[in-house]
Amino acid sequence: MRPSPALEAPNREAEPDPPAHPDPPAHPALDNQTIELLLSRKSIRDYEDRPVPEEVKDLVLASAMRSATAGNMMLYQIIEVEDKRRREALSHSCDEQPFIAKAPWILVFVADFQRWYDYFVHTGAPAMEGAGRSGGDLPAGGGVGEGEGVNVGVGGGIPGTPVTSRNAPTPSESDLFLAMSDALIAAQSAATAAEALGLGSCYIGDIMENYEEQREFFSLPPWAFPVAMLTIGWPTQAQKQRKQPGRFDRKFIVAKERYRFIKPEEYDELFGSSPTKGAPFLPGAANYGQHVWKKKFSNAFMDEMRRSVRAALESWRGQ
Ligand SMILES: Cc1cc2nc3c(=O)[nH]c(=O)nc-3n(C[C@H](O)[C@H](O)[C@H](O)COP(=O)(O)O)c2cc1C
Repeated sequence: MRPSPALEAPNREAEPDPPAHPDPPAHPALDNQTIELLLSRKSIRDYEDRPVPEEVKDLVLASAMRSATAGNMMLYQIIEVEDKRRREALSHSCDEQPFIAKAPWILVFVADFQRWYDYFVHTGAPAMEGAGRSGGDLPAGGGVGEGEGVNVGVGGGIPGTPVTSRNAPTPSESDLFLAMSDALIAAQSAATAAEALGLGSCYIGDIMENYEEQREFFSLPPWAFPVAMLTIGWPTQAQKQRKQPGRFDRKFIVAKERYRFIKPEEYDELFGSSPTKGAPFLPGAANYGQHVWKKKFSNAFMDEMRRSVRAALESWRGQ
């Protein structure tokens, strides 16, 4: 396993906010609990040592499953992780973040086209004459098996099911993007529902790293990609009181009608020009852009994410 780079704090709460992020504006007292909840949310990275009751989990999962979903196909699977040893394993494989193991409930949102494609194959859909030429690329050899016949499990299809015809499409990048949209929207509904029930959560982007290890860990077939992970638990008192991080000014985030390019003379206003909270820039970085470049963009952990996502894409494409 790749060692965590020294400059990556294991608990990212310690990371300074981008300098220009102002404190969140105080909003007037609202008579709307949903908006109040959305405006006051923040990531929670430390949890009380108590489990999440089943009835609470039910509500969170039911809320996630009511999310909008492309074509109502529900192109995702939610994998619950509660086993202590498996939570610990995830805390290591997701860039050495110990708080992950402390979360009593972990949800992994898997963008999933395998379920539908296996069903298509099972029902003989890809073998239909002129079948479904609406989407994916023509595969070189078919992702489920090669040519006509019976699936032998190559590529993750259910062994013994009929295979696709040579000309039939298999899930392409567009299907992956749709499935990721579905999975992420469901994840955010779960996060909001959890918060409404008094829980706290934190996304873990590092689930996209170490693809081969996660594939093994979750027994993932090729057309299933773990795009998001949420740690969920009861927030500690200190976490409840933690200040909400700021955000960029709305004028830089919300545009009208067209993409808004940011002018260089606006950079200081957008990103700030000096470190805040007494946190110095990384050694060798002379300004905030260089600091973030070193810390987030060219860092070794991003190299792993790039490599891992590339490997997942190759697997999805049947390469
Ligand atoms: C896609 C994504 C990946 C993230 N990955 C991590 C992570 O691996 N570890 C972590 O501590 N926080 C992670 N976060 C949480 C962000 O750090 C957090 O949302 C951001 O700092 C803003 O803080 P807030 O959520 O409290 O407003 C992630 C958030 C998102 C949306």
